[in-house]
Amino acid sequence: MSDIALSKSKSQPWGSEPIDLGIGRPDFRLLPLAELQQAAAHRCSLADTTCLQYASEASGSPSLRGHLADFLIRHYGSVVRPERLFITAGASHGLDLISGRFAQPGDTVFVEAPTYFLALKLFQARNLRIVSVPTDAEGVDVVALEHLLEVEKPAFLYTIPIHHNPTSVTLSVARRRKLVELAEKHEFFIVADEVYQLLNYEGETPIPFAALDNSRVFSLGSFSKILGPGLRLGWIETEPEHFSILSQCGVIQSGGGINPFTSAIVESAITLGLQDAYLARIREVYRHRCAHMIQVLDDVLPRTVSFTKPKGGFFLWLKLPQSINSNDLLTEAHAFKIGFRPGTLFSPEKDFTNFLRISFTYYNETELEWGCKQLGHLLASHLR
Ligand SMILES: Cc1ncc(COP(=O)(O)O)c(C=O)c1O
Repeated sequence: MSDIALSKSKSQPWGSEPIDLGIGRPDFRLLPLAELQQAAAHRCSLADTTCLQYASEASGSPSLRGHLADFLIRHYGSVVRPERLFITAGASHGLDLISGRFAQPGDTVFVEAPTYFLALKLFQARNLRIVSVPTDAEGVDVVALEHLLEVEKPAFLYTIPIHHNPTSVTLSVARRRKLVELAEKHEFFIVADEVYQLLNYEGETPIPFAALDNSRVFSLGSFSKILGPGLRLGWIETEPEHFSILSQCGVIQSGGGINPFTSAIVESAITLGLQDAYLARIREVYRHRCAHMIQVLDDVLPRTVSFTKPKGGFFLWLKLPQSINSNDLLTEAHAFKIGFRPGTLFSPEKDFTNFLRISFTYYNETELEWGCKQLGHLLASHLR
């Protein structure tokens, strides 16, 4: 029987829906409805209507910033000062604010190759000129960066220094230091997207860029990966001297500050210990899913396919033989009832034709196992 026939004949235990291994979201079944119900009930029982009024501070709810700082200190293991936190509607909003306020249309921004594809869309919408910097197993290639800096003057470098999307790589400590040194020398900002900082499953994590307490650094954090993306709540950690520039934006001036009601509920989730407990729980679930996926992939993938084992985050970045274009493979994947994100999505040059991204957070272990086995059948069939 051909692999395609095999794939079609095997029905999934959960029905006829395909398994899209490319989805980089939390599992619907894990989202913390009960915890947020409790947090919302707690907040509403306080009989304080401030959270339903326009906000009073552009940098966001002062009490959330205080409790968020305590929460981050516990988990980062480094100092976080509430006065350095600026509340946003998520990391994407923070990135858009920085792109609008700390760069002008036509300015150059550096991104890692590959990088988070929605950041590329965001920079394009702001009419920024995107220049890719090569990366390797330790993150940004700082030698290549230094060469680029001889001919380019970026407004900022956008980096995902921890459990990278899509590569899962973590930037080494030596290179973090070098980046800051270069940012100071060449007067550009570092925008460190640290949304996966708290999702570590193995070994030590470097302290976040935020902890460097440097005025050249913006660190982006988010409740999307640790509580729920639908909350649309996150933060920028940076020098308060930047806050007045960040606040010169119609949406913030009109609302007074971002999402006071959601901020109040999330603050209760933190003070009641619900955020800590939920984070510990999803970390365990993701740790197991990640380990299971690696084990299955090791069994089913052809030897010519390689990947780096993630130590945190959401993603695996598979390198296929040079001859395979993952866009072509995706067309064939429909017959196998699976999906993934082709590598070309992750760079403006549409490089990485023989790479693909998959994630282990959206599906449970049974579903992931089925999806990975189908991926193995698909690759075997394609290579034949
Ligand atoms: C690197 C990175 N940054 C930002 C986001 C989006 O974060 P938010 O939901 O807080 O806007 C994602 C989501 O996948 C991501 O992977």
